[in-house]
Amino acid sequence: PEANFTDGQVWDEEMSSSMLGKRLKRVFQNYKAMNKYKVQVQGLAIEDGRPKLSGPELLCQLKGGVKVTTLTSDLQPFSELTWGSLLPQRSMTFDLGPFKSCAVVTSAGSMRHSGLGAEIDSHDMVLRFNAAPTAGYEKDVGAKTSVRLINSQVMASDDHHFLSSSLYSAGILVGWDPAPYSADLNEWYNKTDYPIFEKYQEYRKLHPQQPFYILHPHTEWQLWELIQGNMAEPIQKNPPSSGLLGTALMMSLCDVVHVYEFLPSRRKTKLCHYYQSYYDEACTVGAYHPLLYEKNLVKRMNLGPDQDIYTHGRVTLPGLHTFTC
Ligand code: C5P
Repeated sequence: PEANFTDGQVWDEEMSSSMLGKRLKRVFQNYKAMNKYKVQVQGLAIEDGRPKLSGPELLCQLKGGVKVTTLTSDLQPFSELTWGSLLPQRSMTFDLGPFKSCAVVTSAGSMRHSGLGAEIDSHDMVLRFNAAPTAGYEKDVGAKTSVRLINSQVMASDDHHFLSSSLYSAGILVGWDPAPYSADLNEWYNKTDYPIFEKYQEYRKLHPQQPFYILHPHTEWQLWELIQGNMAEPIQKNPPSSGLLGTALMMSLCDVVHVYEFLPSRRKTKLCHYYQSYYDEACTVGAYHPLLYEKNLVKRMNLGPDQDIYTHGRVTLPGLHTFTC
């Protein structure tokens, strides 16, 4: 295998880029050298010998430092735009929850043959990502979709037929786009990675009844700072993957969150997505996203036993409102 995370039976929380194969190491270095979003790292650099935080300490940092919020129609520049009233009046976490139990279903190839469908559907809320389908895969990924987190690339790409495909018509939609590190809404509005706001307007006009939120860029970069602040090496200066964003979102809405195949089970595979026959280990260890480090963090915060990871690819995380710091 290209990435050497097979030493233990489950994800090694000390994974670093040095453990990657030659090809992925090069891809990693390229992304680390880029700074497309103008990330400023002063004060975040790891000082040698600083104590590593425990799981509960990390959970408290997440609770204190990351606020999952969504755009509202009263925020500038949207309050001054004719279409701004299409945005919700309140942030998602004010409108919804708390829910008892929630499932975050990653799109990893190792979801295939998992037989987790019934377990996933037994949750009160099920979050899925991007173009991940349930039809034809119910036995492994379930059939319920309560929330779908979609990136702006999927929203904008012609291949995905975002405006017309029935894939996106179930549940609540949440869109996101990599924003400048400043998280300044005016700056972002004029410089999105993909045309998220155009697609949002079009979608809302075609499907006015379906709830549709847009993640506030603060959330992306607060999560990024949490990752970098707890890693011993510089990470990619790009926003976290949808997987971590969705996990943080559900931790803000639910009492308990089960995340499936974010930390690979014994079914670990180079198959990128369970619904496509495309193989690339970068899907699991990251290239553009600091996914390797996101997984280290989640491994440290996991409340469940390693056996759950090994057999079910299942991680257990507490809702942020269920503990005090
Ligand atoms: O590829 P996509 O972003 O749509 O997948 C959803 C999420 O599932 C990713 O952001 C990542 O966190 C997770 N994933 C993974 N391993 C894979 C594929 C996806 O951890 N092989």
